Amino acid sequence: MFNRSQELFERAQRSIAGGINSGIRKMEVPVPLYFDHGKGCRIWDVDGNEFIDFQTGQGALLYGHAPAGMAEAIADQARKGTHWAAQCELEIEVAERLQKMIPGAELVRFNNSATEVVLSAFRLARAHTGRRLILKFEGHYHGWADEGLVGFAPPPDRWGDDEHPARLHPSQGVIPEVLEQFVVARWNDVGHLRRKVDEFRGQIAAIVFEPVLCNTGCMEPAPGLLQAIRELCDRDGMLMIADETITGFRFGAGGAQIHYGVVPDLTILGKAIGGGVPFAALVGREAAFAKILSGEVVHAGTLNANPLCLSAAKWCLDEILALGDHHPAGVIALGRQLMTGLRALADTHGIPLRPQGPGLVFHCAMLKPGAAEGPITSYRDYVRRHDAPRWAHLRRCLLENGVRAIERGLWFLSLAHRQADLDEALRRADTAFARHAAEWH
Ligand SMILES: Cc1ncc(COP(=O)(O)O)c(C=O)c1O
Repeated sequence: MFNRSQELFERAQRSIAGGINSGIRKMEVPVPLYFDHGKGCRIWDVDGNEFIDFQTGQGALLYGHAPAGMAEAIADQARKGTHWAAQCELEIEVAERLQKMIPGAELVRFNNSATEVVLSAFRLARAHTGRRLILKFEGHYHGWADEGLVGFAPPPDRWGDDEHPARLHPSQGVIPEVLEQFVVARWNDVGHLRRKVDEFRGQIAAIVFEPVLCNTGCMEPAPGLLQAIRELCDRDGMLMIADETITGFRFGAGGAQIHYGVVPDLTILGKAIGGGVPFAALVGREAAFAKILSGEVVHAGTLNANPLCLSAAKWCLDEILALGDHHPAGVIALGRQLMTGLRALADTHGIPLRPQGPGLVFHCAMLKPGAAEGPITSYRDYVRRHDAPRWAHLRRCLLENGVRAIERGLWFLSLAHRQADLDEALRRADTAFARHAAEWH
């Protein structure tokens, strides 16, 4: 059913290194798919297969595929000019919307990817405090640059004991000294976090985190964890950096910081801010931006505040603003319903699938034989209990029955998913689960 994708993938490998342009895309089995078009929550590949999409551009497509208004906004701007490398009123309009939406957004700077924004935030935090260390949590992903990947996906044989998570990097070619600029802590253990902060007291510039750990499983913060981060940052003069690349706008206009009731010093925004165009922002308190204001910290980029991206972002933010208080309740309700439906199907077919998360995004953990029940709360817990090969098999069965989830197990709901789409997805999943149950031994 994927013949044309197979052909294109073989052809691509003769010109594109490895045939793909982002490492994770190679995980798609039986072959990385080639797509032709999308509409709403559906996407069609080059073989004509139609999928109900829960991958949604790795979460960027909160408004669904190809929303008409956004296409017009971009086209109108493209006719006037695609790039100025200078100022335009649109950038102020987008910045003003962010100020209105996000509690901690006193000032704003734009980039083209969240990876870049993470680097800006770390640089700013170090300059602001005169300290060098960044505390980050195991399993959290902050972009693919040297600094963003420390502590992401460490292998169990090298990850160190629970009290001293090792500073490891999943990529070769990284300057070893980069690792020394980080403290790695376990997620969802407030006592451990406090001990780590005390151990390096006076040396930590910032604590960075995904408010909901979406890049390893889907783990909400333990009660009081985000408040403890805020308290420790205030106590020790560290900056609190919320990486809301995934949670921003998905959790409502104010993101996860409103949902969980904390105001960070700096916030990283990506993905849904541009609805699928390369756009990202750093927002935060004026005091935290002081070194950019004074010119002592360099922040730059030829394509920063690109007008095509700004026109898309303005359209996206207006969509969220127009939803008002209805968002995110509607997406949460649909997502929870899908989680319940998947769990019920899994039980029927005797599959140990455990959907987990706040609904608008969730992860399907597949329990290893003999693994304990109950929520997965940290990276180590995830590695110990999640059966990745078994999930990969089920994911393929789902894909071949027209349901597309993220390779690593995450599912994103979008504003374009409707009740009828979910009902259909569950009918397709029923067939996929039956096949998986028959084939998996
Ligand atoms: C939490 C988080 N931060 C940063 C990034 C990096 O974003 P980008 O790939 O747009 O640079 C991602 C990407 O998945 C992310 O999930």
